[in-house]
Formats: sequence, structure tokens, C-alpha cells
Amino acid sequence: MLILGIETSCDETAVALYDGHQGLLANRVFSQVALHAQHGGVVPELASREHIERLLPMVHDALAEAGLSAQAVDGIAYTAGPGLIGALLVGACLARSLGYAWGVPVIGVHHLEGHLLAPALEPDAPDFPFVALQVSGGHTMLVEVSGLGRYRILGETLDDAAGEAFDKTAKLLDLGYPGGPALAALAERGSAGAVEFPRPMLDRPGLDFSFSGLKTAVVVAVRGRVLDDAARADVARGFEDAMVDTLVAKSLRALRQTGIDTLAVAGGVGVNRRLRAALAGAVDAAGARVYFPRPEFCTDNAAMIALAGHHRLAAGEREELAVRARARWPLDELRPPGQTDAVR
Ligand code: KG4
Ligand code: ZN
Repeated sequence: MLILGIETSCDETAVALYDGHQGLLANRVFSQVALHAQHGGVVPELASREHIERLLPMVHDALAEAGLSAQAVDGIAYTAGPGLIGALLVGACLARSLGYAWGVPVIGVHHLEGHLLAPALEPDAPDFPFVALQVSGGHTMLVEVSGLGRYRILGETLDDAAGEAFDKTAKLLDLGYPGGPALAALAERGSAGAVEFPRPMLDRPGLDFSFSGLKTAVVVAVRGRVLDDAARADVARGFEDAMVDTLVAKSLRALRQTGIDTLAVAGGVGVNRRLRAALAGAVDAAGARVYFPRPEFCTDNAAMIALAGHHRLAAGEREELAVRARARWPLDELRPPGQTDAVR
């Protein structure tokens, strides 16, 4: 089955073509970063308008890149949530319209299901079950993934998401938007241990996260001080090390607690080099395996949506002719194909 994937949940307009036999045939992302950077963050209305302008031409470009016509498409998968409601509706409406015009089934995919399955886009994919460390701008959780639609949340953040904490800390250091990559780059020039921040919740049992205390510690460290470049780099390094230590320790705890020996990283913060290096070392020392999707499969993309949609459509799942979009959509409402799904 050849599936067209569409992702418009936030500030990336993305289109992909995924085939069950041949794999990924096209994967296009247009980042709206330059548009939103002028405003210091994502402006939902501007995101929706940009999606409207970009999306359909990108579908044509993806088909042209794969050397295929629209008749070759067997189904369409779009991100139905969670995300910015206006942005989601753009993708949902186009997906539904194309599906109607082309006479192919259309399915709404949960954005996090896409991230959780993204490691399977790589040739060396993890087998089920695995523990996913899902770290993005909107979500931070550890999830036991035992199959399509079989997700058990082991722990999640009680306040800020990891990416959100990166972005807010970057803002405190005047790094602009998006903050995560900029903060990571600045941290490269800082010295380890020059500024020590708390490792949130490591002293407590369980697998939940909390990053608001870490953010407050950064506020206290920089407040009322004029920091030169070296001092800012030390703060960035201190923050990144505290974040990485916490994510690594909780991931190992999740492996121990579940008895699963495979970890997979998902979501935009999964691009972070120091996190990847620390996880690789720690998971290896624990006798387990860790899988890192390439950076473009960690950050928002349509390949992961096409893959998730492919698996559901190939299993026979079908939806009525509705445009579905949900700003909020708890992951634990998902079910495997064929089982009653509260949402559909
Ligand atoms: O998964 P994603 O692209 O979008 C969401 O679904 O949220 O994740 C975006 C998040 C942003 O908060 C961004 O700052 C963060 O991922 N991020 C990073 C890095 N690259 C992206 N955080 C830390 N280090 C990075 N290298
Ligand atoms: Zn995402």
C-alpha cells in the first residue's frame, strides 16, 4: 500500500509517501521557523495560513519526487491531533478532500503514535516490545510500546515538557526561537560543573518528570546578573547536563522496571547530541540496546504519520467521512486496529 502522509500539527508543514514494500519514497518538510522567529514563538493563526499555502504544492512535489501520479496512492494519513486546532484542520481538510477526490481511504493519526513508531522508519528498527523515551516540545514521557496501538504510559512530565524547558531556558539566555538547538550549541562552549543545577525528581521513586524547578533554578542563576558569553555558555551546559542526567536515569529505571531490554528515542529533543551520547553509554553499560532515529525522523515529519497510517489502513482500519481534529487527545485512548477506539 502506498500512503500519502500529511503533518500540520504545529509549525512544520510536512508531506511524505510511504510504501509498505519499498519504504519511504518522498519526505518533505517545510519549516516555518523563520516566520515565527520574528514573534519569539509559534503564532497559531500564522501557522494555519502558511500550511494552507504550502501544503497542496508540497503534495504535488512529493509525487513528482517519487515519479508517481496521484492514481498510485492507496490511502492518506493525516495528523488528527494533538496540536494547534487551526493547523490540524488544514491538514485534515486537505487529506479528506483528496481522499474523496481520489476515492481512497483516509485515516487520522495520533501525532505521538507517529513519533513512537518513527524508529521503525530506519532499516535497523527495534522489535516490540520497547520502551520509548518520547521527548518533544509538547510531551515528555516514557512509554511501553508493545505493538501498534499498544502503548502504556510509564511516566510523564508533571509540568513542562523537556523541549519546552529547553526553549524557555534559551529565551532566558536571549537565544531566540527555536531555543533547543541554539541552547545545545551554546552549551558546547560551556564547562561541565561550572554551574550545577538540580536533577529533578531523581531522588524520588517512579518514572514521572518535572522540569519547572530546573527552570526556576536557571531563572535564579541569571537574574540580575550581566552574563558574558562564557558565563552564559556555562549556564547552558549546566542546564543541559541536568536535563540529560534526568532523562538518562529515568530511561534506565524504565528498562529495569519493565524488564524490557530495548530503548528507542523519539521526538525533537532526541536530536540532542549530548543526550544521545549519554544514553548510548548508559544503556550499553546496562546490557540493553538503544535506537536513535536520524534527526529528521525525531523532529516533526510526515514520514512517521504515513508509516502509522499505513499500518492501521493495512490492518483494515477504516473511518467514516469525517474531518477529525483534536487539540487534546490523550495517548492512552488509542487502541490497536480492530478494537473499539473511543475516539473514532
Ligand atoms: O518533536 P518536535 O519537532 O515537535 C513537537 O512535537 O514538539 O520537537 C521540538 C522540540 C523543541 O522544543 C526544540 O527546541 C527541541 O525539540 N529540540 C532540541 C534540539 N533540537 C530540537 N532540544 C535540545 N537539543 C536539540 N538539539
Ligand atoms: Zn512532534
